[in-house]
Amino acid sequence: MSVHSKLYEGKAKILYTTDDPEVLLADFKDDATAFNAQKRGSIQGKGNINCIISSKLFEQLEAQGIKTHFIDSPAPNQMRVKAVKIVPIEVVVRNIAAGSLCAQTGLALGTILKQPLVEFYYKNDQLGDPLLTRDRLFLMELATLEQVETITHLALQINEFLRSFWQGCGITLVDFKLEFGLDSQNQVILADEISPDTCRLWDSAEADTNRRVMDKDRFRKDLGNIENAYQEVLQRVLQAVESQ
Ligand code: C5P
Repeated sequence: MSVHSKLYEGKAKILYTTDDPEVLLADFKDDATAFNAQKRGSIQGKGNINCIISSKLFEQLEAQGIKTHFIDSPAPNQMRVKAVKIVPIEVVVRNIAAGSLCAQTGLALGTILKQPLVEFYYKNDQLGDPLLTRDRLFLMELATLEQVETITHLALQINEFLRSFWQGCGITLVDFKLEFGLDSQNQVILADEISPDTCRLWDSAEADTNRRVMDKDRFRKDLGNIENAYQEVLQRVLQAVESQ
């Protein structure tokens, strides 16, 4: 496979075109950003770690019959993916209150939600990825009603699977963000990545009072030991996959 030109450079990945117009190459970077890129840094080894974790999770989801953009991983920090038209919506699924949900509702950090909450944010850096209402989403024509229903169904299905997968790793899945794309047949498939950058992951072994954060909140909140936490998440994922 020969790589052609840089198609797009995002905060965490670079996308390249390939000789096959239906295939792109994603290069995962060590660069880290938070708060809409107001905070910038680098997490050593993150590109490899996030690419390997995402690849394993996409393989697991595919085995469950959930279609993703994942093809294969030719190098630790590289993923070959199906070219899709990204739906400009960030889909957040929450099981436990944290982050912007606490900030915007006053719910206490760690409150267990009675049922998973699916939220849509407008994927637009200039506007700071604002929370959408369904009416605004349709007003902006970001997706059709059928696509929103498919995305919601898939997001909940993915949450069920991921919750139990992470539980098997001794990790509590607090919340996470997904992105979907439309493939060449206009089908909605899962895109982007699933990694400690896009999930809140708490060590299940720690008591609530002594919460051990194993995700990007360590970077956002300057908690230190970021590389170790990411590395430990990777090791636990690899162990869980190997022991299947
Ligand atoms: O900040 P907030 O609480 O809304 O984030 C919810 C979840 O979505 C977190 O797991 C966070 O890491 C993820 N997220 C993301 N990319 C964004 C916004 C949120 O991966 N642009």
